[in-house]
Amino acid sequence: MHKIALFIFIGLEFSVLQGLYAQPSKASDKQVNALLAKMTLDEKVGQLNQYTGDRAATGPLSKSADKLEEIKKGHVGSMLNVRGAKDTRMVQEVAMQSRLKIPLIFGLDVIHGYRVTFPVPLAEASSWDMEAIELSARTAATEAAASGLHWTFAPMVDIFRDPRWGRVMEGAGEDPYLGSLIAKARVKGFQGKGLGNTDAVMACAKHFAAYGAAIGGRDYNAVDMSDRQLWETYLPPFKAAVDAGVATFMNSFNELNGIPATGNSYLQRNILKGKWNFQGFVVSDWSSIGEMIAHGFVENKYEAARVALTAGNDMDMESRAYTENLVQLVNDGKVPVKLVDDAVRRILRKKFELGLFDDPFRFCDEQREQAVLNSPESKKAARMVAAKSIVLLKNEKQLLPLSKSVKNIAIIGPVAKSKNDMKGAWSVYWDGKDDKDLVSLYDGIKNKVGNDVSLSYAKGCGIKDTSRNGFAEAVAVAQKADVVIMAVGESADMTGESKSKTNIHIPGVQEDLVKAIQATGKPVVVLLMAGRPTIFNWIADNVPAILYTWWLGSEAGNAMADVLFGDYNPAGKLTMSFPRSEGQIPVYYSYKNTGRPVIKEKEILYKSAYTDSPNTPRFAFGYGLSYTTFEYSNLKLSKAAIHNNETLIASFTLTNSGKYKGEEVVQLYLRDMVASVTRPVKELKDFIKISLEPGESKTLSFTIDKEKLSFYNQRMKRTTEPGRFELMIGSASNDIRLNSGFELVD
Ligand code: BGC
Repeated sequence: MHKIALFIFIGLEFSVLQGLYAQPSKASDKQVNALLAKMTLDEKVGQLNQYTGDRAATGPLSKSADKLEEIKKGHVGSMLNVRGAKDTRMVQEVAMQSRLKIPLIFGLDVIHGYRVTFPVPLAEASSWDMEAIELSARTAATEAAASGLHWTFAPMVDIFRDPRWGRVMEGAGEDPYLGSLIAKARVKGFQGKGLGNTDAVMACAKHFAAYGAAIGGRDYNAVDMSDRQLWETYLPPFKAAVDAGVATFMNSFNELNGIPATGNSYLQRNILKGKWNFQGFVVSDWSSIGEMIAHGFVENKYEAARVALTAGNDMDMESRAYTENLVQLVNDGKVPVKLVDDAVRRILRKKFELGLFDDPFRFCDEQREQAVLNSPESKKAARMVAAKSIVLLKNEKQLLPLSKSVKNIAIIGPVAKSKNDMKGAWSVYWDGKDDKDLVSLYDGIKNKVGNDVSLSYAKGCGIKDTSRNGFAEAVAVAQKADVVIMAVGESADMTGESKSKTNIHIPGVQEDLVKAIQATGKPVVVLLMAGRPTIFNWIADNVPAILYTWWLGSEAGNAMADVLFGDYNPAGKLTMSFPRSEGQIPVYYSYKNTGRPVIKEKEILYKSAYTDSPNTPRFAFGYGLSYTTFEYSNLKLSKAAIHNNETLIASFTLTNSGKYKGEEVVQLYLRDMVASVTRPVKELKDFIKISLEPGESKTLSFTIDKEKLSFYNQRMKRTTEPGRFELMIGSASNDIRLNSGFELVD
């Protein structure tokens, strides 16, 4: 290395290191074992016990006990829902009064940002932008860690295909390939340069496993699924999280084929800790150990504790099954102490890695908290990620972006001035706090146009109510405007845990409000805000411009204004198919052809079809428009046939054929035409997100290798089989622009 470069390098290193606290010593098995040797059985069981602080509860609160006394006795290994440098210090000080002074781990649901709130995860997934998603998790971790936290219960990496399920908002969508990349990006973001840095928190891949397939989309419901479906679709993001070094896993409320996930040793021992060699620890979901009684799987908590620990569940979140029964179970010879030791070791190792034995208070620095939270850079990141999460569903006659010469804008709808809904569900930081810092759509537009444009507003109606009393005022406001921007959708509390619905049409009389405004003849832009795919067929058919804006976080209004006025050209693409009606659910792009596929849309008799609806979704996976247009041309395959260990290059030209600079998410799908186990009509195998100037062309290429061609055969072995493959490159799963085929030969 050149001398000057070396000097600069050392200087940089030095300044970076200055920003960090002293690195903790690496956890060695020796240290862990030495500590374990000093522990009584009672203290070991204490490490496996997690209580909630009393601020937030997502389930029935465990019976009140003097938790601080329990901590002092060494009966608690971790707390959730205690946050803030001051409070965590206070509780950690109590842990330091215990005999062995083993520090507590503080965990919280930091799902999409902390103080600065980012878009809900399903929205962020629509960005298809791994850097942005990683940055969002990185920012959240930096803030959370400055607030005394060591652990986030995120990412949720469940795959789901049922928008009735309220928790779709927390995940990445329907596709295992994309879901795996996003899982990895989020784990990397949360854990940063590694545990032990005071800006990193432990990530937690949840909910292991198959929670997203709850029957009928009803939360907590049973899951019944083939091993093939489990391995092909539901497990890949969990495996990706392990590969990315995720520190912890959370199991799940659901049963899988008759066995509750919490007591499921196939999932936790065989797959996770066995086949995948996961070295971190597994926490139960909230009271899920105790819930095995209601499942009808065990008789009482004594049995529940035995089954859970034996199956590989290390930490008990709020069931009190371990703390009440494990010592007895060991003494009764029902649980070998080596199982307890293994669980304790896994947890202690993380405490060492976090540096808590070097300094249990290293995350509890109020000054740092003050300096880190709500920084301008974090807000900037949140605004950028929010803009990237918006999906342009329709834009007839280029109504968007709005011309800067517009003079009168009417802003109408029940969510137009809402700040509170912008944060979406699971924004624990904001519980009980004033939400004045959140930017509504109205405020975002006001910030953008200043006093140059006159803004008028009418609410029109409530989100859920049936009154049309506000319509007349809204119509009058619209009539005086050059353009109308409408904000309709769900309220933020309509998605999230325990928010399953049978009717996912946009609620109340909102669609009628849109009809009334559209009838004025004014150009109308509708912004749909929700945490799940919703149904809004009239709007989709009649309104010229539609943006799906989800819940975008604290900078929501600013990001929406950036997109409305063309300062950011939208590039989001849906990661979950939007149904036409609830009766179509589940609707997803990677379906099987069946023996009677629909070939012509109108010819459906004795075909695998509905008589009252097309099979296709309203908006397909991978779909989303831009203010510009892209042309795909010149597809070339490097070979017509490849051997198993060879690669094939598919190259093509992408041209920005429109007037605006823009980003496209180019998607590669493959279909294995004939196989010993039938394959879906299309599977996403790769994508490229690229920005092009107007008129610019680029040659792009995808590399196809064995991994992309493999599947689980009849014996559940991952393999390839010779035969023909169809290759499809396009702008959405239903908008394939380039097609070709190739042969895999022996
Ligand atoms: C949820 C988890 C969450 C936990 C702790 C449960 O109800 O299913 O995802 O991490 O509560 O708040």
